[in-house]
Amino acid sequence: MKSYFLITFGCQMNVHESEKLAGALRSLGFIPTKKKEEADIIVLNTCCVRQGAENRALGNIGAFKTLKKTNKDLIVCVGGCMTQQKTAFKKLQETYSFIDIIFGNQNLDKFKEMLLERIETKKKIREIEEGSPTPVESEISRADGDTAYININYGCDNFCTYCIVPYVRGRERSRAKQDIINEFKKVIAEENCGTPRFKTITLLGQNVNSYGKDLKPASTFVEIVSELIKVLREECWGRPLGDPQKIAFMTNHPKDFSLELVELMAKNEEYMAPEIHLPVQSGSSTVLKRMNRNYTREHYLNIINHIRKNLKKIYLTTDIIVGFPGETEEEYQETLSLIREVKYDKIHAFMYSKRSGTPAASMSDQIDQKTKNRRVNEVLALYKDVLNKKM
Ligand code: SAH
Ligand code: SF4
Ligand code: F3S
Repeated sequence: MKSYFLITFGCQMNVHESEKLAGALRSLGFIPTKKKEEADIIVLNTCCVRQGAENRALGNIGAFKTLKKTNKDLIVCVGGCMTQQKTAFKKLQETYSFIDIIFGNQNLDKFKEMLLERIETKKKIREIEEGSPTPVESEISRADGDTAYININYGCDNFCTYCIVPYVRGRERSRAKQDIINEFKKVIAEENCGTPRFKTITLLGQNVNSYGKDLKPASTFVEIVSELIKVLREECWGRPLGDPQKIAFMTNHPKDFSLELVELMAKNEEYMAPEIHLPVQSGSSTVLKRMNRNYTREHYLNIINHIRKNLKKIYLTTDIIVGFPGETEEEYQETLSLIREVKYDKIHAFMYSKRSGTPAASMSDQIDQKTKNRRVNEVLALYKDVLNKKM
């Protein structure tokens, strides 16, 4: 039996896309291995949201070269968001010529064909596609665990000034409602020894709240979630389930997050996971403006108040960027005060990382590394402090 070793960096979207890569590999008869030294194929699914993610990917690729020396037949494949950038794609071809297949996230559905071609012809394959293709339904080999991921929309149109994602993921496109419902039905019906295989079904998109705007006829996120709740109600009725399976979703964007969604969650608590990830990025309205986030601190806090009022038990999480270009000490203090006010259950704090080609990369007043380090450490210390007081 031939085996594969798959490494994934990045967000849940990438984790789920690795399940699609695994599906392709398994359909060709490959089985997973936990030891890369034993693998016949290595696949690396990359992220480029921050420089650190790129560095880690490049470090891994470097190590594959050594493995190729001991196993001449080893097939090394590198894909994902980092390879989707033209500059990185070119650099990989020039510097790491030993890679057998380079592909992007926009032609991930062609991975199986590329692999077959590589095996048959022994030719190296380098192919990324651009232009936001409509994703085809893929074979998925879902990872063990409580959560099943389902894509509801792809790409991003928000162009936050620090972010590379819209450039590597293309324009926003919503998946057809019926395709989502069909996949949802299939997933909730999967069983393991008579009990449901997955406890939570997580709906995925870079901005789930803008789901359906581009569909004809248009739809909304609240509409698709309502339909899925209906499916849970009807399909799971009479099944000896214990606790019903729950719907979760990520990521939310405060500019599109509708208060109706909170009401829907409040009315259907038994079907909805009690968690909301609402990235704020900064507590300062002036920084938010420079980030092109299209909401203010006040708007964000209104949403939080509404959530707190209507959902008694909710696990509230966020993402924060410190050291965005020009972030003054006062602006940064507003982020700290927002953290004190909201009392999150979890914070992912990041130091701003310059991404070439994004508007923020060429803004003046880039913040020095020392200040960024201090700010990120303070945010994390404050978050722990708030958490301790809550308990
Ligand atoms: N679409 C999602 C996820 C985007 S990437 C969203 O809008 O939340 C996940 C997180 O990475 C972002 O929320 C942001 O906090 C962080 N991030 C994105 N670009 C970054 C950059 N250039 N430097 C530091 N953090 C960044
Ligand atoms: Fe990036 Fe903003 Fe899109 Fe999220 S919403 S992926 S942070 S551009
Ligand atoms: Fe990274 Fe791509 Fe996700 S850049 S954060 S893996 S969308």
